[in-house]
Amino acid sequence: MVSTPALVASGRQYLPTPATDCPSPNQFLLPLTAKLNSQDHLEVGGCDVVDLVAQFGSPLYVLDEETLRMACRQYRQAFQRYYPGESLVIYASKAWNCTAVCAIVASEGLGIDVVSGGELYTALQAGLNPETLYLHGNNKSLNELEFAIDQGCTIVVDNWFELETLSGLDTLSGLDTGMTSRPIRIMLRLTPGIECHTHDYIRTGSIDSKFGFDPQQIEKVYKFISQQPSLECVGLHAHIGSQIFELQPHHDLGAVMVQWFQKAAQYGLPVQQLDIGGGLGIRYTESDDPPSIDEWVKTVCLAIVEACESQGLPLPKLIAEPGRSLIGSACVTAYTMGSQKEVPGIRRYVTVDGGMSDNPRPITYQSTYRAIVANRMSAEISETVTIAGKHCESGDIVIKNAQLPKTQPGDILVVMGTGAYNYSMASNYNRLARPAAVLVHDGEASLILERETYHDLVRQDRLPARLSASGNQ
Ligand SMILES: Cc1ncc(COP(=O)(O)O)c(C=O)c1O
Repeated sequence: MVSTPALVASGRQYLPTPATDCPSPNQFLLPLTAKLNSQDHLEVGGCDVVDLVAQFGSPLYVLDEETLRMACRQYRQAFQRYYPGESLVIYASKAWNCTAVCAIVASEGLGIDVVSGGELYTALQAGLNPETLYLHGNNKSLNELEFAIDQGCTIVVDNWFELETLSGLDTLSGLDTGMTSRPIRIMLRLTPGIECHTHDYIRTGSIDSKFGFDPQQIEKVYKFISQQPSLECVGLHAHIGSQIFELQPHHDLGAVMVQWFQKAAQYGLPVQQLDIGGGLGIRYTESDDPPSIDEWVKTVCLAIVEACESQGLPLPKLIAEPGRSLIGSACVTAYTMGSQKEVPGIRRYVTVDGGMSDNPRPITYQSTYRAIVANRMSAEISETVTIAGKHCESGDIVIKNAQLPKTQPGDILVVMGTGAYNYSMASNYNRLARPAAVLVHDGEASLILERETYHDLVRQDRLPARLSASGNQ
């Protein structure tokens, strides 16, 4: 038998009990508006989660607008508090890219980073100002580059191939960049060689990374750009990884970036922006202890201010691009429970009506989550079970050794902290339709993503005539 984590008495114990007026959303398992209602049900954003499932079906992503907005404001206010220069927070929309989420963060004054033409298109559909959009990616296609440049976005250049492509773009594609009047606005992504403790797949700052220029080549890169009148290099970027709980790596990163910043001036480049990436972690289980948004921003700002002061440099415009810590804790996923299986002496499986297709993080990164039974929040925790998804895959386990009350088919199971890298990594594996998402606020639930239908699943299928029933005769 496997060891079990410490027991909580009931799901109620996960309800947020903020100790301050300004609780940092990333430090709570549930959205900040989560409550228990008179029916002993979980309520988020003033909506009973059990009722939401009855109305919208399951699995269902339930996104709390207040928690998301609170996180956006905390980032912005902390930069205003700790950074004497200009600053900008941009949302790393890969965490959850859809029109409603883009519109909310933009309405809070954030820019957005996108990593594909699809994410860019979505942000534009949400009505965002292209000047606030930054295109990332280590292998952007020519189409994606042209699309972003045409719109007036900033391109975060990742490598030599891309740099050379951009510098020859007019000749290559006949693109009308209006080069004489409008050079292409770029930033450079560099790999800082800073280690942090997180999963290998989400660690991006070490030298052995597929992302970014090698800083050993920085002078060569600067020299090349200084000879390209069509490129305007406005900034430098680095991102060291995700789900990071230590502050020191980001402090060190600030100092490294200021050295790069200083060198850029020697090549006459108009670099005025430093983008320090994202990476602040969130609490998925009781044992996770991330710093608050305020502490993280303070660290980053002090690092840049100190380094600039010691080098006698003017303060750059400071940009951060958090994803997970903005949206991760603002959402829960509600499932309906189904079959159960006892493997005597080993474990008890309970199942839900989703799994790795709506949340691929456990199978991809061995990520851990906590769950509660939303229709019986005060029920005493009495058993250790493994919550399995419904996919044809033994590894499709949502939570191993979860602590739950006795459950039965039809119970509503809520997995917490599913706002980041869940919907955005969702798939149609086993041809499951992707779930719906609702935005909850002040007792109102608005559909922001419709549940896919069987029709959606075959929409792109094409059946050659000779394979169709009539063609087979
Ligand atoms: C370039 C870049 N910026 C920002 C982020 C956001 O990171 P996080 O969600 O950990 O804040 C990522 C995610 O890995 C990234 O690759």
